[in-house]
Amino acid sequence: TKGLKPVISVIGTGYLGATHAAAMAEMGFDTIGVDIDPSKIEALEAGRVPFFEPGLPELIVKHVGTGRLRFTSDLADAVATADVHFICVGTPQRRGSHAANLSYVEAATKAVAESLSHDGIIVGKSTVPVGTAARLRKLVADSKPEGIETQVVWNPEFLREAHAVDDTLRPDRIVFGGTDAKSEAVLREIYAAPIATGTPVISCDLATAELVKVSANAFLATKISFINAISELCEVAGADVRVLADALGYDDRIGRKFLNAGLGFGGGCLPKDIRALMSRANELGASRVVGLMQEVDEINMQQRQRVIDQAIDACGGSVLNRKLAILGAAFKPDTDDVRDSPALNVAAALHLRGAQVLVVDPEASQTAQRSFPTLSFADSLDEAVTDADVVLLLTEWPVFVNADPTHLAELAANPVVLDARNALDSEVWSSAGWEVRPLGGRT
Ligand code: UGA
Repeated sequence: TKGLKPVISVIGTGYLGATHAAAMAEMGFDTIGVDIDPSKIEALEAGRVPFFEPGLPELIVKHVGTGRLRFTSDLADAVATADVHFICVGTPQRRGSHAANLSYVEAATKAVAESLSHDGIIVGKSTVPVGTAARLRKLVADSKPEGIETQVVWNPEFLREAHAVDDTLRPDRIVFGGTDAKSEAVLREIYAAPIATGTPVISCDLATAELVKVSANAFLATKISFINAISELCEVAGADVRVLADALGYDDRIGRKFLNAGLGFGGGCLPKDIRALMSRANELGASRVVGLMQEVDEINMQQRQRVIDQAIDACGGSVLNRKLAILGAAFKPDTDDVRDSPALNVAAALHLRGAQVLVVDPEASQTAQRSFPTLSFADSLDEAVTDADVVLLLTEWPVFVNADPTHLAELAANPVVLDARNALDSEVWSSAGWEVRPLGGRT
């Protein structure tokens, strides 16, 4: 394909892969998305994205239309057609362990290597423990057909769910790990559009590239647990954590983002990434970061317990047979992802204690119901709040935050709201008759 644009294959069509494939097509490359799940492929080919991600269905439909993007479950065919192969499969937490399960990454990389019919580059995007890429290099060398030249490089992804398209098209930075002159040139060609608008490129060794990704998530998690630890102090000292976070945030070195105190972090990334980091650092004998991440994880999980305790307290000592309206099931707003969702975790714990829990979420009810079949779900905010003894705001969807508190106060049996995301305007809610109980100190 000398002189021509490289053709791209993207292995794995979850959040990362589907978004990356659509973004590659948008940047002008012929792209083939590959997944072993034929139902996913069928949906994507028809422009249906099997999860809620704003803007992604439109981009996929657009480029299935332009002919630049297609999806297949035939990995060998995709690899035979493409020149650059992005590995975008998941690295979930291993059962009964903190470590990452690398079996999907290994299987996908091996399958690509075995299917190579001409020279090409294998680009890892999945989040992996440091040292994985070097091992994959060996695996590829042992698996590829003789006479074919290939290289494994690492190009971590920093996209956030709910902002996946924008983050992929306009990243903050681009990291290339383990490239030589040739693969560096190919990757620079692929990312020419964001590079042209000034996105910095960091070229480094494989281990650094792997660690940049993991450290970024570890730092974000630390920021959240830091403010949550301070919020506990604010509570006992009579201080206001929201005002404090605003004041801290004006310092450029600190920044206001990820300083929202509340129920803490969940999702498919931050929790499992800090645990995988603990596990890998422990293996390598780097004990400081293990202790630090352990504390971050503990503070985070404690926030869930604090909300459970607060709900019990608001019900006068027991939630048995009390009606609780749970606002939010997704791990954060603008997604239907419920993986390690703090909201559902709290809802399930209160349900176990005998509360009548009614959950409402604008997008995540279906996915939540599949994971928590014993929980009850309401179709609307009004339905959830009607006759509630206590309302718990657990995911700060704009439709909840901007709801009319006067109307809701008329529906509730008891106008008490636990603002576990510190997202409500307490003055407005109080003057509508609500008793607002924040999580962590607020005056
Ligand atoms: C996170 C990172 O932000 C991305 O940069 C990274 O690429 C991604 O993981 C990944 O590794 O794939 P994501 O899991 O989509 O992205 O969600 P975030 O927006 O980071 O939110 C994580 C959690 O932190 C949510 O549960 C959110 O409610 C919570 N959070 C966030 C807080 O409790 N307080 C805050 O101030 C901010």
